[in-house]
Amino acid sequence: MAILVTGGAGYIGSHTCLELLNQGFDIVVVDNLINSKAESLRRVSDITGKEFKFYKLDLLDEELLETVFIEYDIESVIHFAGLKAVGESVNVPLRYYYNNIISTINLCKVMNKFNVKNLVFSSSATVYGTPDHVPISEKFPLSAMNPYGRTKLVIEDILRDLYVSDNSWSISLLRYFNPIGAHESGTIGEDPNGIPNNLMPYITQVAIGKLKELNVFGNNYPTVDGTGVRDYIHVVDLALGHIKALDKMSNHSGVETFNLGTGKGYSVLEIIAAFEEVSMKEIPYKIVAPRQGDVPICYADASKAQNELGWVAEREIKLMCMDAWRWQSQNPNGYGKDTLITESEKNPGLIIKSKDFFVS
Ligand code: NAD
Ligand code: WQD
Repeated sequence: MAILVTGGAGYIGSHTCLELLNQGFDIVVVDNLINSKAESLRRVSDITGKEFKFYKLDLLDEELLETVFIEYDIESVIHFAGLKAVGESVNVPLRYYYNNIISTINLCKVMNKFNVKNLVFSSSATVYGTPDHVPISEKFPLSAMNPYGRTKLVIEDILRDLYVSDNSWSISLLRYFNPIGAHESGTIGEDPNGIPNNLMPYITQVAIGKLKELNVFGNNYPTVDGTGVRDYIHVVDLALGHIKALDKMSNHSGVETFNLGTGKGYSVLEIIAAFEEVSMKEIPYKIVAPRQGDVPICYADASKAQNELGWVAEREIKLMCMDAWRWQSQNPNGYGKDTLITESEKNPGLIIKSKDFFVS
């Protein structure tokens, strides 16, 4: 029996693959590599000393996806695959709706056909829109302020409808707050294409000298120092939350929603200070106008995940900054050129093994 991880070459997916392998799960990974490199998976194999199968595959291709279910005895699916850039989603909404929603529908159709009904889905705190107050619990009203966020809302609805139609499904909707940091080895991490949209990768690229200075989006919010407040969560804690969700669904059907956050909020200036302290790098910044669509303050009430999954985020903010910096400083150009892309194109169902087995 194996866990299928969609989008497993990506930032959160690769960290989750690593933790799954460490805990003895068999995994199969599918990803079309539109926003990632298969090199991340080779490094996951290196760190864990384990092999697993990888399919370079687009979830929009339902027939191809079926071949994976034919070949493997899949017991559960963790579904990370999706496009995630908020700004881009405003410019190309149809691409976001098509990719994120149709690929999820395809996945559910194939799962249904093969009687696989355990699904963990990557949702987002973005589904809370602008919350009335904080901390945000799962019961808060839902709304979205951009096409990306609406794809998450629509998919959550689709999955709730699916459960209503067939009560044997077990579905976890995990609403992530702001994932940052990297595995402690510094060999896997977040590798954004082009100029980063998110705060932490922007800061690390300023620290490494690739970007001149950070633009701080607004300093007039009703927060501790006027800058936006977020609930930053270490990506390894987030990965472990998925394994707790898998445990729960092994003896439970239903649709359950969980916030995965720390319950603590930090301002942009507090993040800069924490990063500077652990990296001993100065982060030059300037205050600019607020970014359209940003909420002033957002952090989780994560008590449901604690009570029902037995999960708590343990890694604190300085460790998050230190791990993000270790990844960036050891990999100034991220994963670099992906030697596995052609390999995986020639060989569907490529076995990902550690470095020694590959000529790069
Ligand atoms: P990521 O872009 O690093 O990973 C997503 C992966 O999905 C990529 O490897 C991409 O190549 C793959 N993919 C996209 N469309 C695909 C398709 N049609 N078929 C196959 N593979 C496809 O992003 P991430 O940060 O690891 O996020 C993972 C999930 O978590 C996403 O669904 C994202 O929306 C959600 N999420 C992310 C954050 C965040 O801040 N990173 C916050 C909340 C929710
Ligand atoms: C954090 C804070 C910015 C960049 C986004 C998505 C959300 C989710 C997580 C997927 C804010 C400030 C940022 C910069 C800055 N993704 N900032 N200068 O906006 O909370 O959430 O990622 O689901 O949907 O919207 O994260 O890292 O972009 O911003 O001042 O260059 O840092 O204003 O206060 P955000 P972020």
